[in-house]
Amino acid sequence: MSRVALVTGGSRGIGAAISAALSEAGYTVVANYAGNDEAAAKFTEETGIKTYKWSVADYDACAAGIAQIEEEVGPIDVLVNNAGITRDAPFHKMTREQWSQVIDTNLSGVFNMTHPLWPRMRERKFGRIVNISSINGQKGQFGQANYSAAKAGDLGFTKALAQEGARANITVNAICPGYIGTEMVMAVPEKVRESIIAQIPVGRLGEPSEIARAVVFLAADDAGFITGSTITANGGQYFV
Ligand code: CAA
Repeated sequence: MSRVALVTGGSRGIGAAISAALSEAGYTVVANYAGNDEAAAKFTEETGIKTYKWSVADYDACAAGIAQIEEEVGPIDVLVNNAGITRDAPFHKMTREQWSQVIDTNLSGVFNMTHPLWPRMRERKFGRIVNISSINGQKGQFGQANYSAAKAGDLGFTKALAQEGARANITVNAICPGYIGTEMVMAVPEKVRESIIAQIPVGRLGEPSEIARAVVFLAADDAGFITGSTITANGGQYFV
C-alpha cells in the first residue's frame, strides 16, 4: 500500500504542484483547501486528487479533518504544511486583524495541523513533516511584518520538533521558497514585482514544481537522517 500524504493549501499555487509531484512519486495524496471550491473541484477533476475543505486556522476543524482522512484514506505518513496567506501592509498601516489573520493561518495553522497528527505518527513510529516557510521568514520583507514573523516562527517550530520527533522516526524539515510565479506573488503591484525580480540572480520567478521536487526529496522513506533542516530555493536571492 502506498504512503498517504496530506498537503494543506494543496489545490492551488505551490501546494497544487506539491500534491501533483507526490502523486507522481507514488503517494496517495489528499489536499486540504480553505475557500476556493471552484479551484478545488477543477483540481480534483484534472488530477484525481481528493480535496477536503477546512481552515487550518481552526484547531478543531484540523483535528476532525485529520481523523476523517485517516478513516477514509488511511494513516497519514506525510504532512506538508503549505497553506499560507498574505495581508501585506507597511507596519504603520497594519491592522490587528491583518496581523492575526496571518499569524493564525501561517504559524498557528502549522501547530493546528501537526498537533493532532503528532501522537498518531509517534505511535506508528513514522512521519515526514515538511513546513513551507519563506525567504521572507529568513530575511524579512518590507510590508510583511506579520508574514515574516509567522514564517520565521515556522522555522523555529521545525527545529524544535525535529528534536522531539527523531526517536520516533519522524522528520521535520522546512523549505524556504523565494518568489515563485503564483497568484500570491502576482498580487504584488507590478512595479514592486519587477524590482523583486531584478534582485533574483537567476533572473526570473521560480516555478511551483521547483519547490515540489524538494518536498518529494524530504518526504522519502530514505530521507530519515535529514531532520531539522531548511532547504532554501530562491534563485540565489538570499543566502543564509
Ligand atoms: N524598501 C523601502 N521602502 C519601500 C519598500 C522597500 N522594500 N517598498 C515600498 N517602500 C516605500 C515606497 O517607496 C513608498 O515610499 P514613499 O511613501 O516615500 O513614496 C512607501 O514605502 C509606500 O508606502 P505606502 O504607504 O504607499 O505603502 P502601501 O500602502 O502602498 O503598501 C506595500 C506598500 C504593501 C508594502 C507594497 O509595497 C507591497 O506589496 N510590497 C511587496 C511586499 C512583498 O514583497 N510581498 C511578498 C508577497 S509574495 C509572498 O509573500 C510569497 C513569499 O513567500 C515570497
